[in-house]
Amino acid sequence: MPDDLLIAPDAMQRLLHERWVALYADQRPRIDLFHGDVLVPPPPAAAAALRELADRAAAPGRGGPDDLELHRYRSPHLVAPALATATAGWLRRDGIPVVNETREVIVGVGVTQLTVALLHEFARAGRTVLFPLPTYTYPLLAAPQAGHPVRLLRPTGAHAGHRWDLERIRRAVETWPDIGAIFLVNPGNPSGEVLSAEFLRGLARLVLDHPDLVVIADEIYREMILDGSPFTAAAAVSDAGRAMYARTITLRGLAKCYGLAKLRIGVAAAAEELLDRFSLRSFVWFNTAAPSEIDQLVAAAVLDRTPESYHRSTVRAYRRLFRLVRAEVDRINRAVGVEAVQVVPSAAGSFALLRLTGFRGRTGPDAATAYHSDAQIAADLHDRGVALVPGSAFGYPQEELLLRLTVTSPEADLRAGLALLGELTREVVAAPRVPAAP
Ligand SMILES: Cc1ncc(COP(=O)(O)O)c(C=O)c1O
Repeated sequence: MPDDLLIAPDAMQRLLHERWVALYADQRPRIDLFHGDVLVPPPPAAAAALRELADRAAAPGRGGPDDLELHRYRSPHLVAPALATATAGWLRRDGIPVVNETREVIVGVGVTQLTVALLHEFARAGRTVLFPLPTYTYPLLAAPQAGHPVRLLRPTGAHAGHRWDLERIRRAVETWPDIGAIFLVNPGNPSGEVLSAEFLRGLARLVLDHPDLVVIADEIYREMILDGSPFTAAAAVSDAGRAMYARTITLRGLAKCYGLAKLRIGVAAAAEELLDRFSLRSFVWFNTAAPSEIDQLVAAAVLDRTPESYHRSTVRAYRRLFRLVRAEVDRINRAVGVEAVQVVPSAAGSFALLRLTGFRGRTGPDAATAYHSDAQIAADLHDRGVALVPGSAFGYPQEELLLRLTVTSPEADLRAGLALLGELTREVVAAPRVPAAP
């Protein structure tokens, strides 16, 4: 039954609102382990560029190339040439064959805005975007306005580690001809999975065999690979001489790996014909929410002037935080004498998935029925003062009892939050086993 392959978008939407978006609106004091920030501040090039720009804005306009005219909406260029060049260099280092950066790079208010713009463009063309789950589902918040132009592919079972499965993607594409794009997040959030070159080559074959199919590759965590896994860019792959660059829209941003979430800069790069096909240039041009020239110029300076050592040191810092999380979880398990909490291995990114196996078949402190959903555990933890996102908000089956924890949090928050998890775990493991709720 092909419908077994999909999850209904409105069901996912409901989960997203109830289990993730609601956390932002909740005013209770709590330790925030659900945020999306990174911990390491941006490289010094960011503040230096802002100072230089302040000087340029303060100097009287002479009509020269250095003018920064704060009173004008329009900038001389839609995409600052310095940012187009810096982006092209960034992508070429990963083997993505950008040819003419002024025609192949566009900029948006973050990767999220570009993703939403793409959803609208696919909807306009009468097509849908396939999101293999689990994935970063936040862009789906904008799917209703676009008429839900999405197909959500159910995750594979726990036996397969919920990894994306090419055969299921193929079945979806062949069952629903409206699928016009496949949305990849590589490295993944929250899975931390780094897609292998073999997977991406297989995907390339599938995509290139379907004339109208494209890939949207969100590579915002590209520099945050923690275990040394090799990174392959989807747009750098080819199959039998056919380049995926012609069929891939690569999205990158500075919010994560450059610590610049406030800048609100995302870039999209694709072959010229592909960008034209989806009218993305006009989307950005006519939108007064287009990114400011100031943000663009800071982003360009940061991309140009940041040495590799910045990424190496952030990776070291995040590895240390992952070790801290594993040590705290070990301590919880030792205290209860069983492996009640597991840290799912992760290769990249800023999140850890915790699997609360010890909660299965047991009641919470105040409940009459056994835990059967990750949301119940998240709610009980929230009542105790620590907030995490249930895995079901990303498409994991809720009965897997997974919670996503932001590892790039202050150490004190990690320790205090995990201490509260330890407290709840002790009470739950001591409670009698009861039959699981239906
Ligand atoms: C996979 C992924 N893409 C994009 C974003 C957000 O990107 P931006 O801040 O550039 O909109 C996030 C934030 O958590 C993310 O996890």
